[in-house]
Amino acid sequence: MRSSLSFLFAAFVCISAQAQVKAPVDAGPYVPSPTSVVADMLTLANVGPKDFVIDLGSGDGRIVLTAAKVFGARGFGVDINEKLVKEANESAKLQGIADRASFTIQDLFKADISKATVVTMYLLPNTVNMLKDKLLNELRPGTRILSHDYPLAGWRADDFRQFDLEDKVVITGVTTTLIYKYVVPAKAEGMWNARLPPNLSKEPVRLSMKQFQVTRVSGSARLDGKDVALEDAKLRGEQLTFKLAVGGKTYDFTGTVKGASIEGSVESGGTKSAWSAAQAK
Ligand SMILES: C[S@@+](CC[C@H](N)C(=O)[O-])C[C@H]1O[C@@H](n2cnc3c(N)ncnc32)[C@H](O)[C@@H]1O
Repeated sequence: MRSSLSFLFAAFVCISAQAQVKAPVDAGPYVPSPTSVVADMLTLANVGPKDFVIDLGSGDGRIVLTAAKVFGARGFGVDINEKLVKEANESAKLQGIADRASFTIQDLFKADISKATVVTMYLLPNTVNMLKDKLLNELRPGTRILSHDYPLAGWRADDFRQFDLEDKVVITGVTTTLIYKYVVPAKAEGMWNARLPPNLSKEPVRLSMKQFQVTRVSGSARLDGKDVALEDAKLRGEQLTFKLAVGGKTYDFTGTVKGASIEGSVESGGTKSAWSAAQAK
């Protein structure tokens, strides 16, 4: 009697512990992207043999399979639907690309995405937005994010496509199809001590930059006691470009933002010189 009571108690504790393990958030039902949209997403991402593509919620695996078979990339997909994951791995074997495309049963919110150079998703709009912090914190600058139909709210897309596709009517009820592309930016926000060519300044120059809408940048350089605005400033991954108009001349800056330093070149009137900056402490 005593031992059967202990057994019942242990079973109860075990069941309540399991109930507390949260089921994955349902990020969307299985609706495959039409094959032409898959090709358009991978083309817009400029996927090639050096790329590692991760599809979050991979369904039958078509995005990663196409990335491997047609674009020569490698990658993996994760999905919570066991049957779809099995089907995707079987397709990879059948197509002879199982060494470059694989699929795992996993909650996409918990997937390690740090290896990606390209992340793709076709998920519900609220889910796409729940992923914003994960994407920014785990992906390296320069990684391309492609989202079918739903944007990352508050982020300015680096590129997008909008077109009509009859195949979408059965999925969304309308022909409108959107593909958003974002390039994960380096962190350029803050104060930088810049060394510019001597004709611009012999002293270190204070450069101040702000990032807005995640992928955009604005700022100014303090030259001869005046703040000169960075014109046409752009940050695409690690690549920073801006112009400075000083003394009737325009100086075109390009630079690579790597952690706490920037190295690059500045061109004006056919003359090119080096410039650099270090993040101010
Ligand atoms: C709209 S389908 C997209 C399939 C594929 N990416 C495509 O574009 O063809 C969304 C997929 O996300 C999967 N999914 C939903 N919630 C998920 C979660 N929390 N973790 C992993 N996969 C999930 C679904 O099972 C479904 O296969």
